[in-house]
Amino acid sequence: MEYIIQNEKIIPKTEASIHFDDRGYYFGDGIYEVVKVYAGQPFAMDLHLNRLIESSKKLDITLPYSKEKITQFITTLIEKNSIQDGLVYFQVTRGVEPRNHLYSRESTPIFTAFTQPAQTLEDSQKNGIDVWLTDDIRWLRCDIKTINLLGNVMVKREAADNKCQEAILHRNGTITEGSSSNLFLIKDKVLYTHPATNLILNGITRQLIIDVAQKHDYSVVEEPFPVDVLEHADEAFISSSSVEITPIKAVYGQLSTTFPVGPVTKDLQKKFKELLPKVK
Ligand code: PDD
Repeated sequence: MEYIIQNEKIIPKTEASIHFDDRGYYFGDGIYEVVKVYAGQPFAMDLHLNRLIESSKKLDITLPYSKEKITQFITTLIEKNSIQDGLVYFQVTRGVEPRNHLYSRESTPIFTAFTQPAQTLEDSQKNGIDVWLTDDIRWLRCDIKTINLLGNVMVKREAADNKCQEAILHRNGTITEGSSSNLFLIKDKVLYTHPATNLILNGITRQLIIDVAQKHDYSVVEEPFPVDVLEHADEAFISSSSVEITPIKAVYGQLSTTFPVGPVTKDLQKKFKELLPKVK
């Protein structure tokens, strides 16, 4: 039996029901986090919760529970669903009220969470993936981790329809990020990635990679770069909680180029793995 959390309750998924007037349903009016679970433990939970708090402030949504309470809920759910390696997803919508663009500040936010077993990353991490370069059609507050993801889902479909596993986005020729990941490129052993502005989501994996790279004496340049810099990179990879560090082997779409799974990517993959919780 698969369990989920709805508000304070852990219940079988088959018993869950969403209110017709939930603003999440009408407007995508809510925020979320995806946390990877290793050896039964949620990884970097504190950083994810801090980002959830930031998203809630930016969207004027009051979080219904404290960080400690959410951690407790999530830990219990992971145990209840016997997840060793997987993902936990949690979201908070603004709450239930009759459909109106203007929200009232009086509704009670709705918290829901579910878990998923891990997908296998072995092949993609070793051999890399194909990506599709296309226009960034999203809004101008990509820093907020909102469930309103239409721009992201549209470009993900476009990438898949072109046999690519991820869409890499550019805004007027400046590379931003992936549809559900951040992008790094490497040139002469230096890492380049878009700065954490309103145009990208400041990924937790991105932050951990920058940290681990700098600790091991790699230079990291957080500056916007144009498409042709990607074209001439030595290596490139995407990062996210679910895919960790996944190399890019080829770019298609508005650019056509290939990359090796190079030594810097491999080294960072190894160093990132060292951060992860191990089975005791
Ligand atoms: N996506 N950029 C975007 C647009 C994302 O959706 C994600 C994560 C990231 C990477 O963030 P992090 O390293 O904190 O996972 C960057 C998650 C996994 C998702 O929506 O499923």
